[in-house]
Amino acid sequence: GNVRVFCRVRPYLPHENVAHACEVVSPTEVRVSSNGEPSKTFKFDKVFSPSASQEDVFLDVQPTIKSALDGHNICIFSYGQTGTGKTYTMEGQKGAPGIVPRTLQQLFKDKNLPTSDYRFTLSMLEIYKGTLRDLLVPRPTRLTDPPAKSLNIHLSVSDHVEVENLTEYVIDNLSDALKFYRKGTRARSTSSTSSNESSSRSHCLVRVNIVRKSQLDKVSRSKVWLIDLGGSERFFKTQAWGKVLEEGKSINVSLTALGDVISALQKKQAHIPYRNSKLTQILRDCLGCNSKVVMFVHASPKEEDSAETTCSLTFAARARGIHLSRDCAAKSREREARISSIVQKMEALEGECQRLSVDIQALESTVNEKKR
Ligand SMILES: Nc1ncnc2c1ncn2[C@@H]1O[C@H](COP(=O)(O)OP(=O)(O)OP(=O)(O)O)[C@@H](O)[C@H]1O
Ligand SMILES: [Mg+2]
Repeated sequence: GNVRVFCRVRPYLPHENVAHACEVVSPTEVRVSSNGEPSKTFKFDKVFSPSASQEDVFLDVQPTIKSALDGHNICIFSYGQTGTGKTYTMEGQKGAPGIVPRTLQQLFKDKNLPTSDYRFTLSMLEIYKGTLRDLLVPRPTRLTDPPAKSLNIHLSVSDHVEVENLTEYVIDNLSDALKFYRKGTRARSTSSTSSNESSSRSHCLVRVNIVRKSQLDKVSRSKVWLIDLGGSERFFKTQAWGKVLEEGKSINVSLTALGDVISALQKKQAHIPYRNSKLTQILRDCLGCNSKVVMFVHASPKEEDSAETTCSLTFAARARGIHLSRDCAAKSREREARISSIVQKMEALEGECQRLSVDIQALESTVNEKKR
């Protein structure tokens, strides 16, 4: 399918005590056990063990990045409970860069292909408590500062999603791209939860728009979405209250909506409920037929998290079976059928028109004769 699902198990952090609850049993299988409960095995396209490096992870993402330069829309997102390493996978740390900086590097490396001319732009936004916020414009701090422009999602006639007012910087080289990216990550909303000292309280979305001009002056456009989702934790676990609880609730609204879209796509339902959240509205054209999706589901190694881990892995395993292309074939068949019926109607109308103009001519000549 066009949706590939990878699982990454987080290593133990220095302050955690060891009691393995999440075991990588093969390169594609992971087993979750908890005290007294029968263990459950989940299968994915690939499972990364706690010892997997950022390089190892990126190697499996590389082919998808390449296909973005060939004109596919791609979307890579990281999913999982709070504190399991989503931000580590996407953003990384000093000395261990994650998928986003590596993707930017890869794009600049691959764009030197002689057959085409590429242009990239970078945008970044977060979905915080159901609202979109541009991460590349400074937040207004003084009363005299102009208010931030509101970002609106539009769907063009050709089903392309556009985010109105979102800042888009042309990026010519890697160092500029990384500079903008760091600026955006600093502007993200974070709070401290009991499970993660600097927990991301929003969905962070990085977009690279690619315009490719071939030698024959043909222009094609594609986009890359790199998404660090907010934690899918349950509230009693994180002892959340007040602001953190509100943030958690709205993160879960989007994640539920994403789950509903995935399940509708899988069941090949006629109606896909994209409109239920900002997240799914934005991703609409990346879950289409010309797109490729990679989902990283993150698992905690801790036994106390095993119920939560099972939830995350069940959600992700559901996404694995989706084939976007078949939907696409059905859709394009539908579209072709509609076009050919419109063409038939037009031909019929043209015939009618010709008949009528013959009639008009005949009537005109009768009238002219009568006048004489
Ligand atoms: N593969 C890994 N190797 C080393 N450290 C890791 C790894 N994954 C996560 N960590 C560490 O675990 C901690 C939590 O990770 P991170 O902040 O990425 O979690 P998160 O899933 O983004 O959580 P939240 O939903 O709260 O934002 C961080 O200190 C991070 O450095
Ligand atoms: Mg995070």
